[in-house]
Amino acid sequence: GDNVMYLAHRYDIELEGACEASLACSTCHVYVHENYFDKLTDPEEEEEDMLDMAPFLKPNSRLGCQII
Ligand code: FES
Repeated sequence: GDNVMYLAHRYDIELEGACEASLACSTCHVYVHENYFDKLTDPEEEEEDMLDMAPFLKPNSRLGCQII
């Protein structure tokens, strides 16, 4: 599907996605602009767990492959 990670790949924006959106990595970590962060649906627990392992975590951190 069209998640932010796949969109980044389609438009040649550098973003990894080692596990192909199966919530088994945190290489698709992104920071969401403040104007959009609150518009997103809240992350599932599995995403939170993976995010906890992402380096340089910020309050506006999400996993790109979970943003649809
Ligand atoms: Fe692995 Fe997003 S690509 S969690």
